[in-house]
Amino acid sequence: MSKQIFQPNAEFAKNANIGSMDEYNKLMNKSKDNYEGFWGEYAKEKLDWIKPFDSVLDESNAPFVKWFDGGKLNVSAQCIDRHLDTRKNKAAIIFEGDRGDVQTITYLDLYKNVNKFSNLLKEDFGVKKGDRVVIYMPMIPEAAYAMLACARIGAIHSIVFGGFSSEALKDRIEDAEAKVVITADGAYRKTKPYMLKPVVDAAITEGSPVEKVLVVERNNEEVTWVAGRDYSYNELIKNKSTHCRYEEMDSEDPLFLLYTSGSTGKPKGVQHNSAGYILWAQMTMEWVFDVKENDTYWCTADVGWITGHTYIVYGPLAMGATTVMFEGVITYPDAGRPWAMVENHRINQFYTAPTAIRVLHKMGEDTPKKYDLSSLKVLGTVGEPIDPPAWKWYYEEVGSSKCAIVDTYWQTETGGHIVSPLPGATPIKPACATLPLPGIMAEILDPETGEKVTEGESGYMCITKPWPSQIRGVWGDEERYVKSYFGDVTKDGKAVYFTGDGANYDEDGYITITGRTDDVINVSGHRMGTAEVEAALKKESEVAEVAVVGKPHELKGEGIFAYVVLKHGLDDSRFEDDVAMMKNLNGIIKKEIGAIAVCDDIVFIPGLPKTRSGKIMRRILRAIAKGEKITQDISTLEDPSVVATIEKMVNG
Ligand code: WT7
Repeated sequence: MSKQIFQPNAEFAKNANIGSMDEYNKLMNKSKDNYEGFWGEYAKEKLDWIKPFDSVLDESNAPFVKWFDGGKLNVSAQCIDRHLDTRKNKAAIIFEGDRGDVQTITYLDLYKNVNKFSNLLKEDFGVKKGDRVVIYMPMIPEAAYAMLACARIGAIHSIVFGGFSSEALKDRIEDAEAKVVITADGAYRKTKPYMLKPVVDAAITEGSPVEKVLVVERNNEEVTWVAGRDYSYNELIKNKSTHCRYEEMDSEDPLFLLYTSGSTGKPKGVQHNSAGYILWAQMTMEWVFDVKENDTYWCTADVGWITGHTYIVYGPLAMGATTVMFEGVITYPDAGRPWAMVENHRINQFYTAPTAIRVLHKMGEDTPKKYDLSSLKVLGTVGEPIDPPAWKWYYEEVGSSKCAIVDTYWQTETGGHIVSPLPGATPIKPACATLPLPGIMAEILDPETGEKVTEGESGYMCITKPWPSQIRGVWGDEERYVKSYFGDVTKDGKAVYFTGDGANYDEDGYITITGRTDDVINVSGHRMGTAEVEAALKKESEVAEVAVVGKPHELKGEGIFAYVVLKHGLDDSRFEDDVAMMKNLNGIIKKEIGAIAVCDDIVFIPGLPKTRSGKIMRRILRAIAKGEKITQDISTLEDPSVVATIEKMVNG
């Protein structure tokens, strides 16, 4: 099936950093012909080295790789100090609060705030290089200061998204053995204060590794203070020096951990290191968003996800750009909020998730027309496949058919974009991530043979050579790192990185991502392990067995569908009916994971479809959840009749 194709805006292409397919091909070929030369040159050009590196790539212990070994640098200095000569009065961060309050933080302000923060962590909390610091924060500038302060003193930050529950926070704190938590009393959502500190309190129990908690007072609501453990940032920061010498870090010193879902119940602490990560964060800002010196760039993600790390904080600041940070909800007070912000701040690049686009489209088909969106040059999407109707609305109504849409495909583990159009070069097709970026050897492979698949065939989205911003490990679990990412596909006798996604090539060699091949689902662009949701549901003693699958959802992309077998049917006296039981189960999910994992559907069934060896047939459950008729052979099931029963219960 041939899709419509849109050429890059010719005016825009004239000044674009990569302005034609010729340039793209040149760069791509250069990286293929001399991989290390390509990366080595960029690393020298783009980064400020305290000590130059000795080698570009060391693969001798693959999949444990080293980039730019021997080099020394500091990521906080990359993002701040080196801009002071030329950009000290330029806005680094423009913060817009939920209630419309705006704060402009220049590079000099950022320098001072981050230095003070670093001194606080060192002097008052004794944080040292290599210590883990958990950040559980709302979208306020102090979250960025905290990240950069950790980077400055060599501490490894681990941000936990503010929507996660105390149980989820506790697990992540304990896995990382964090001795400090940075949080806020709370923040504002839809003009009302909400709280975070009580969640932190509940996450720190007997035996917790946490020694100190730093609380940014944002909404000044009443919180409990534990003497000797909890401290007010607003108080401690007052007398700190605005100078803190940064730590000289090795290229491969860890920068941060970020927990993400996998195929088991336990999230993985994805580890990113210093030099390679910051290099690609900066390069993709310049290539994919084509951010220019006077541009204002806005990414609507939360710092709790990788998008917030790479494309709100590290990437924009590394290149010296102006990044917008937004505390609020993009549909509040109405669906005009983001467009009002684009107009007010004269935003040039806007980056958001397909879910947000679908919701904004649904709530306000004609709303963008009411605003002056003429500053926009590049529109981005990330996190899940975007459907053609949402793409079309974004292109025509938001971008007035003159802005490129960059459908950026990547993941927590890749650190930055992997497959994406370049706005001044790549002819785009709706809902298509198009081509690998120069330097990235992304290929769709046949999992059986390791051969590149041909047009129209599906295969596994792989990356056949290490790249600078790749995951360096799963915290505390070397084996899981190797097994999760290098266990499925072998090409030319070598284990290659497998993303977990399926994909295919079209007639132009363009890549379309079709979604996960494992038991990971994508809810509103958030990655959710079905095993994690199952583990939470099993905490209810009435639950005998459970299987969770994804189901297509109009706005969220995928919704969560749970099949539950109860021990005593529905005759437990605690629950009047299945609605009461559903509420109870979703309550448990909120407690164990957070509201983001609440199930859209829960059905109580008499038994799960299993093979004779006891394996749950998820394929069947996925098909039933989608409303499909089961036509495949089910005679090998332990009890084939259960399929008809479930079908009837779900689809009538
Ligand atoms: C998974 C990664 C990437 C940052 C946000 C999510 C899916 C991501 C796209 C896209 C189709 C996409 C993949 C990937 N995904 N971007 N443009 N088109 N699918 O990071 O939580 O690590 O999730 O999101 O399935 O594996 P994440």
